[in-house]
Amino acid sequence: MLGIFDSGIGGLTVVKEIFKNLPKYQIIYFGDAARLPYGTKGTDFIKRYSAKIIDWLIQKKAKIIIIACHTSSAWASDFLKKRFNKIPIFEVISPALNEVLSAAESKRIGIIGTPGTIKSGSWKKKLLAKDPTLKIYSKSCPLFVPLIEEGWINKKITREIVKEYLEPLKLKKIDVLVLACTHYPLLEKEIKKVLGKKIKIINPAESLAKSIKLFF
Ligand code: DGL
Repeated sequence: MLGIFDSGIGGLTVVKEIFKNLPKYQIIYFGDAARLPYGTKGTDFIKRYSAKIIDWLIQKKAKIIIIACHTSSAWASDFLKKRFNKIPIFEVISPALNEVLSAAESKRIGIIGTPGTIKSGSWKKKLLAKDPTLKIYSKSCPLFVPLIEEGWINKKITREIVKEYLEPLKLKKIDVLVLACTHYPLLEKEIKKVLGKKIKIINPAESLAKSIKLFF
């Protein structure tokens, strides 16, 4: 059984990709809606609660752990891999790095995520370690998660907020945008309206699901 967790409903976008690639596997999912958002909380909080969730998933007989949450992947995955060293743990950032690199023809990459994920610099550091000539523009979008959790995906106000956050990235002429938060694929349509049809949008859950498939 695969144990997957996120701070809320966003991780279901990861579950969807895993179902596509591993339809036969049972999944147990924990969305920490009581403590959401993780993206504006401190690293100790994120490590402590991620560890508690993993304890619970193991108790429920999960044999592999998937950290769907980008904020937890960014701040807590090293800590969690050391603490739970007897069980395979996947995080959502590393599997997608090569996909981002090959999509970035002009080497201009946008990354959007929670304030915590962007502050960690995790995506940026890992991408630059592979290619120091990349131009990376990061932007935190703190209002996206509450809007999505509220189900306000098709509202005018959401469209305006997406525009407000992403216009500056458009000006940077990025050709790839990484959705570094599990919630954001739910806004993909609105994001494309702002950045144009040519933008390549990377949902890291797709590479993550493929890497889990290869593991089996
Ligand atoms: N789903 C979380 C992530 O991928 C973000 C939501 C939150 O702030 O809790 O980072």
